[in-house]
Amino acid sequence: MSTKIQSIRGMHDILPGESGLWQKLEATLREIIQSYGYQEIRMPIVEMTELFKRSIGEVTDIVEKEMYTFSDRNGDSLTLRPEGTACCVRAGLQHGLFHNQQQRLWYMGPMFRHERPQKGRYRQFHQVGVETYGMDGPDIDAEIILMSGRFWKALGLKDVTLQLNSLGSQQARQAYRGILVDYLRQYEDELDADSQRRLDTNPLRILDSKNPQVQTIVAEAPRLSEHLDAESREHFDKLQDLLSRAGVPFEVNPSLVRGLDYYSRTVFEWVTEALGAQGTICAGGRYDALVGQLGGRATPACGFALGLERIIALLEQEQQSCQNAPHIYMASMGDAAAEHAILLCEKLRDQEPRLRVQVNCGGGSFKSQLKKADKSAALATLIIGEEELANDTVVVKAMQQQVEQKTVPQADILAEIKQIPGILDD
Ligand code: HAM
Repeated sequence: MSTKIQSIRGMHDILPGESGLWQKLEATLREIIQSYGYQEIRMPIVEMTELFKRSIGEVTDIVEKEMYTFSDRNGDSLTLRPEGTACCVRAGLQHGLFHNQQQRLWYMGPMFRHERPQKGRYRQFHQVGVETYGMDGPDIDAEIILMSGRFWKALGLKDVTLQLNSLGSQQARQAYRGILVDYLRQYEDELDADSQRRLDTNPLRILDSKNPQVQTIVAEAPRLSEHLDAESREHFDKLQDLLSRAGVPFEVNPSLVRGLDYYSRTVFEWVTEALGAQGTICAGGRYDALVGQLGGRATPACGFALGLERIIALLEQEQQSCQNAPHIYMASMGDAAAEHAILLCEKLRDQEPRLRVQVNCGGGSFKSQLKKADKSAALATLIIGEEELANDTVVVKAMQQQVEQKTVPQADILAEIKQIPGILDD
């Protein structure tokens, strides 16, 4: 017996009943991002594996255990992108986008990580990301944070809070790393296996361990904020000042270190309690060293990415939906009327703003056509039978209203349906 082929664990179809809300979310984000003067960049989904190793970091969870890596037919090691920042830097370098220029870029698309799937955590998920290049002041950090704050307002999401931290310059972080390791070594036996391993590989990650015993040890650890270099300190103070003046509340979280190695100075996350364990809906920060690390001239950079599935989950919890139902369902009786209906609907679609018009295909009884019209959730049904065909008229039936259906000349259809509430409102 053959088994049914199913989608891959952690990778989901977005079904017709759901895609309307996705489109609405995407359109809202796109509109806001573009209102800040950002340009879209579209990158391939597959890149050389080396790109992610060199940017995200060899000893991060993503590179150590989560990448979909395979050899292609030439024997090259390729990887399905686990995130977009590295790809964006690669594209910018390849096309000379960073030469004496500032860039404000954004992208949207699927990312892949072989994580343990659970609510809010998938193996294929979608991000909208924003990346900026060539600006090293706190003004641009503030800009992208204000932009992200604007998303939640526009989407009607409350109870999303902003956490901020500064990781300092790479040199300052390196010096702090030594101080942190000296402190943690005193408690090495009390750390869990993961943290013990990270003592040698990536000790800063121990700061955001979820293990309560490790958290108690970390609570007394020397603070990164006390070892910031003067420039990073000033940058961070100015950013906080700007955000306060813009009326954006935030919390400085000294254990916010992020799971990717490329960050320096500002890091931030927008978090919510409403999604359980996977509460970070948007995250990012500065990565001033990455362009240089990947072979370019030193170029300051910062950005963020948000997880669309998590935001959709929040919108659904708020009972938001969007069906993109047709405005009009076109029913007809008889072959001649059916052919005429197709041509008439083509004309209706010539109108601006464009109407969504669904034509009944495949015939069927009057009753079954009306059932389909109901199911389509159209606001109006137009009906043409032999009589209407002969008289150049059409029957207009407002679906959600308690009003009598009306027969009108075909030339007056538009004027008639414009009276129906909801049509052409969106
Ligand atoms: P990240 O924190 O790895 O950062 O991911 C950003 C967001 O993507 C997360 O906050 C979360 O909402 C969503 N996300 C991540 N993994 C999953 C998953 N397995 N399932 C569902 N959603 C997920 C980055 O990717 C950086 N590239 C962000 C950035 C851009 N930093 C600077 N520029």
